[in-house]
Amino acid sequence: MKLLVTGGAGFIGSAFVRMACTRGFEIINLDKLTYAGNLENLELVAGSPGYRFVRGDICDAGLVERLLAEEQPAAVVHFAAESHVDRSILSPGAFIETNVRGTFTLLEAARKARIERFLHVSTDEVYGSVEPPHESTEDDALRPNSPYSASKASSDLLVRSYWVTYGLPAIVTRASNNYGPYQFPEKLIPLMVLNALEGKELPVYGDGRQVRDWLYVEDHCRALLAVLERGRPGEVYNVGGNESLENIEVVRRVLAETGGNDAQIRHVTDRPGHDRRYSLSSEKIFHETGWRPEVSFSAGLPLTIDWYKRHPGWIERVRTREYQQYYEANYGGRGLKR
Ligand code: NAD
Ligand code: DAU
Repeated sequence: MKLLVTGGAGFIGSAFVRMACTRGFEIINLDKLTYAGNLENLELVAGSPGYRFVRGDICDAGLVERLLAEEQPAAVVHFAAESHVDRSILSPGAFIETNVRGTFTLLEAARKARIERFLHVSTDEVYGSVEPPHESTEDDALRPNSPYSASKASSDLLVRSYWVTYGLPAIVTRASNNYGPYQFPEKLIPLMVLNALEGKELPVYGDGRQVRDWLYVEDHCRALLAVLERGRPGEVYNVGGNESLENIEVVRRVLAETGGNDAQIRHVTDRPGHDRRYSLSSEKIFHETGWRPEVSFSAGLPLTIDWYKRHPGWIERVRTREYQQYYEANYGGRGLKR
């Protein structure tokens, strides 16, 4: 089976490409290589027969149409996005452009090319903050609270409209917080791991009692393959890791695993509009595809920390000048010591 993967040089997309190549899928990877895209994430598959990389923007209608016509993939698996909430607060424009207009551009091209499957990779953040003990189900209302989650909810709704209006066989997945190797260090777990290992302060937003569900990235990719094979067009599937933790607990566990010290924790100004709790019911994907998460947080966290310890060169190369500027813009005003 041939897949057009968008955003396959990012964190989850590259894990998916590595897994899908191993399983014999042919892959065309379309990625713009923004700050978050990194071809080093794909070194393990770069020379594989049946793998092709194309540098380009999903907003480029001509390019996307040409690729679909040339390659005639059986399915599109759409990861490409601006993905970080903090960056969406600092500068939301790119989120609307890529996540909304880019998804629209892909949907139009997929409709014209009569694509057999369009898998749209979305997020639990579209449901907004949920009160305990509720677990979001796929039919819940969308109440996004950040420019990032609003852009993802908008793209989910565009996908839905292409199924209802044009019969494009599209499926939406909504996953919880992913973690694992190759995650860009702006995100909570790699940022805390690196700061802990380097003896720096660990910036916890607000009281740190916000709840997130943690999903090991390879479990997410297995879920996507299961949905691609056994999911029903027009449906939405939640993908949770069944590992709900307060952020402060995640940070303490990182410190315990890295030999750091709780005195490194620094409570800083909260994220504006910070959702208190996400929680997913994944009953639907369990029942319809048989998928289950296999890597517990207790197993996945040390695997992740070990990967970062073994890849100092990767870390050095992704912490570019642009990253330093982002770090200063996001944390400078929060009074964090460097
Ligand atoms: P990421 O930021 O690591 O990677 C995004 C990739 O998309 C990069 O390779 C980037 O170069 C590419 N890209 C960005 N704009 C593009 C454009 N206009 N055209 C082509 N390529 C472009 O993101 P991630 O964490 O791997 O997330 C992938 C997808 O999964 C996103 O859609 C995100 O919303 C969703 N998701 C992420 C998580 C998570 O915890 N990281 C959880 C649920 C859903
Ligand atoms: O829930 C799924 C979402 O998870 C995905 O849709 C996004 O693409 C992905 O980036 C992630 O969302 P965030 O962008 O919010 O992830 P982040 O790792 O930045 O934050 C996770 C939690 O940790 C959140 O409650 C904010 C908190 N946090 C984060 C950072 C970076 C801190 O307390 N301190 C920090 O320095």
